[in-house]
Amino acid sequence: MAKLTRSRFLRQMLLGVLSCVCVVTFAACGANQGGSPTATGGEGTTGAETTTLRVATEPAFPPFESQGSGGELEGFDIDLMNAIGEAAGFTVQFQSLPFDGIIPALQSGTVDAAISAMTITAERAQTVDFSRPYFKAGLAIAVQESDTEVTSFDDLQNKRIAVQIGTTGAAEAAKIEGAQIRTFDSAPLALQELANGNVDAVINDAPVTLYAVQSGNIGGVKVIGQLITEEFYGIAIPKGSPNVEAINQGLATILEDGTYNELHQKWFGEDAPDLPETAPI
Ligand code: ARG
Repeated sequence: MAKLTRSRFLRQMLLGVLSCVCVVTFAACGANQGGSPTATGGEGTTGAETTTLRVATEPAFPPFESQGSGGELEGFDIDLMNAIGEAAGFTVQFQSLPFDGIIPALQSGTVDAAISAMTITAERAQTVDFSRPYFKAGLAIAVQESDTEVTSFDDLQNKRIAVQIGTTGAAEAAKIEGAQIRTFDSAPLALQELANGNVDAVINDAPVTLYAVQSGNIGGVKVIGQLITEEFYGIAIPKGSPNVEAINQGLATILEDGTYNELHQKWFGEDAPDLPETAPI
């Protein structure tokens, strides 16, 4: 159930009372027009009864989520979530959290959803629910430009590897024999460590590492062409949350009406590839 802000709650209560009066008086108002704050069903809410979803993100992962110079959130995920809300009839209130704090926040119900380039994994699906996949990505290895030794995953044995804490990149790195893993709170910090020559490699989501290299945010680093994994991002919600329907419906709408493709063009400079309806996990 979406949590409402205090003023919205009061407004909803008032609307609820009014619509009850309406039902009694005219017996013509639909029952589902009532002011119940749980009304974020498959259709979303309508009219003035807009529900607000608190949505967590870790905004140091461009081009998916980052903070502009004035601190405002921007990125593909941010635009996407707002567009989904518009299509499904809810507004979005973003909350910045550390990446490894997002699933606990969903579990404790302090946020209603999370969009944070989060990979749909079998392990996470035990504790949270996911929307249908909204992006196809995968992990890539980054090394120093001068590196001639590391050309594949198998070359990472006994190397020093930087990762962002709590990510699929960290989980992959943990499988490498003899590797010294250094964990960082954000992906840019891990990449900086590589640029500084303090580690031999970074395992991170390919689109984000490529963006950091191409945008010049990180120098002296190259990305190994072959991806280690294929991953799909999903919007995470607390287990059993009814909001999954509204989110999936909003996503389906914007995939169909071209909005999704426009956002893909805006942030990746090319048309969106086809997406599966479920993630192969
Ligand atoms: N896709 C990876 C994962 O789910 C990394 C996501 C990191 N996201 C972020 N906003 N820092 O583990």
